[in-house]
Amino acid sequence: MTNKNLTQNEQKTLAGNFAIDKLIEQKRIFSGMKIGLGTGSTAMPAVERLAERIKDGTIKDICAVATSFQTTIACENFGIPVFSMNAKEIGGHLDLAIDGADEINPKKQLIKGGGAALLLEKIVAYNADNFVIVADESKDVPSIGTCFSLPVEIIAEARISVIRTLEKLGATCTLRQGVKKAGPVITDNGNLILDLLWKTVPNAAEMEDKINNIVGVVENGFFCKNIPTVFIAHSNGTVSER
Ligand code: 5RP
Repeated sequence: MTNKNLTQNEQKTLAGNFAIDKLIEQKRIFSGMKIGLGTGSTAMPAVERLAERIKDGTIKDICAVATSFQTTIACENFGIPVFSMNAKEIGGHLDLAIDGADEINPKKQLIKGGGAALLLEKIVAYNADNFVIVADESKDVPSIGTCFSLPVEIIAEARISVIRTLEKLGATCTLRQGVKKAGPVITDNGNLILDLLWKTVPNAAEMEDKINNIVGVVENGFFCKNIPTVFIAHSNGTVSER
């Protein structure tokens, strides 16, 4: 089956469905497990597929942690039980987290946070034994940091001081603006988002720590510490696992 011409949305659905079924087959998704569920238009089909596999009885007694209001509402709609990371059922640790990404480089370092959910996404991803990314082929790129902007969640009061420091690290910063809301985006945690671009490719692993050392930064969207398994769906209808 290599002569299809799937749209980007069709690839997202394919990646989500394929990954959930494959992870069940590999027993990396199993009954009684604790699972982190990501945010965005690729994570959502994965959440829906997980719900289908719960409904058809393949897996039981899942405890989920949602990474955003979007995911919490999806879980409510699909009947997936959601817990806080701090709940005794979760104990601050997950068996697996599955999520989308904005960009993936050959080392499987990521930019995430296009949907402004990077803080919870990183808490979930970095406290999971297995981290899995689902993506369409447009996310597979040679380098990260110069094309898709890096989201950085910041405390509102530190906006100017953080921008000044980030500019010294070579980044240009744009305050993310709301859609159908006047003024800036306010995250699920009540903070602001800066979108950063570099002229030359930054060292993502180094920059992840450097940015988080700035007073007033809550978290940034470089994900370099828990290297994921990546499922990438292609327009020809195939899915590659890396
Ligand atoms: C949200 C995210 C998303 O996973 C990322 O933006 C990819 O989104 P999509 O699957 O809609 O392209 O990090 O904060």
